[in-house]
This record gives sequence, C-alpha cells and structure tokens, in this order.
Amino acid sequence: MKDKKTISREIGLEIGTLCGRHILNVEHLHYGYWTKDLKVDLSHLPAAQKNYTDFLMSNIPDGVHTILDVGCGMGHTAKRLTEAGYAVDCVSPSAFLAQQARELLQDKCKIFECFYEQLHTEKRYDLVLFSESFQYIAPETAIQKTLALLNPEGQMLICDVFKLSTKEKKSYFGRS
Ligand SMILES: C[S@@+](CC[C@H](N)C(=O)[O-])C[C@H]1O[C@@H](n2cnc3c(N)ncnc32)[C@H](O)[C@@H]1O
Repeated sequence: MKDKKTISREIGLEIGTLCGRHILNVEHLHYGYWTKDLKVDLSHLPAAQKNYTDFLMSNIPDGVHTILDVGCGMGHTAKRLTEAGYAVDCVSPSAFLAQQARELLQDKCKIFECFYEQLHTEKRYDLVLFSESFQYIAPETAIQKTLALLNPEGQMLICDVFKLSTKEKKSYFGRS
C-alpha cells in the first residue's frame, strides 16, 4: 500500500507533467542541464532538457545493448535510447505516467508498472539507468536491487540531484 508521501509525490509529478507539457512545452520531467550559455529562465527549460538528454546519451558506456530505465517518466528518454539502437525496458510506478509512456513507445519497450523496489523479473540488463529517479528510492535498496538485475560487467548510471553540505543557500537552478 502506498503511503501519503508517495501518493503526494506521484500527484506532484502528474501535475508537473501536465503543466510542463501544456504550458512550457517540455517532454521530460527532469530539471535539465543548465550550461553556462543558458540564462536561468523557465523559457529555456526545453533547451536545458535537451542539453541534459544529450549529455545522458553521450555517457552511455560502450558495449551496452540492454537498458532498464527506472522511473521513465513520459518515456522520452527511453524513446531516444531505442532510436539509438538500445533495447530498453522501463519501470514506472505511476499509472498515469506509464500510460503516457506506453502511448509514446507503443510496443518498443516493456513497461513494468510498479515501484522499482517491487520489480520482479528474470531479465538482466547491461545498464540500469536512473534519470532523476534515484532520489525517490532508498539508496541501499536501489543499489542492492540493481546488483541483482545487472548482467556480469553490467553498470549503473545515475544522473540526479544530490545533497551537499554547503554554507550557501539551497538553489535548484543555481550554479556553483
Ligand atoms: C523527476 S521524474 C524523472 C522522469 C524521467 N526519468 C526523466 O528523466 O524525465 C521521477 C520519475 O521517477 C519515478 N519514480 C518515483 N519513485 C519511484 C520508484 N520507487 N520506483 C521507480 N520509479 C519511481 C516517477 O514515477 C518518475 O517517472
């Protein structure tokens, strides 16, 4: 059974998805990669998201063929990955987001509609990808689960927001 915090996070992501898609014209749920040439302004979010996805794609290790995209959002990263020739499966605990991803990906990817913690499959992957989804899962659980789902020599790729001890005020969009 889902707890209140999980339910409110899911609702937040769903509202964010609808606002992002219809107001800001964005496809992804991540914060984007704000390179120095981009003024920090919401109107630049689509460009920052493109930067982020390009950066993510450029960091897929050589030799990877199969990928599990944990917390696939609306499925746009999985789509880019399939277009690049990878075989991709997705995990999505949100029925709403899973449906969006299904419509986008059609039968190109299998979508496990469950929390990563509850995923059961015999399949094994060359890469387990967490694109701004690692923060939602207890790190020890995510790592243990991933170790069990990787092929020998398989790898885990995390692109996310991490907390640092700093005297400065917290800012999601600030650079340091
Ligand atoms: C900020 S969004 C990122 C979506 C997408 N990966 C992207 O980069 O745009 C976080 C994603 O993590 C998923 N998520 C949250 N908790 C999860 C969990 N316990 N297991 C798997 N996915 C989870 C959400 O449903 C959502 O798709």
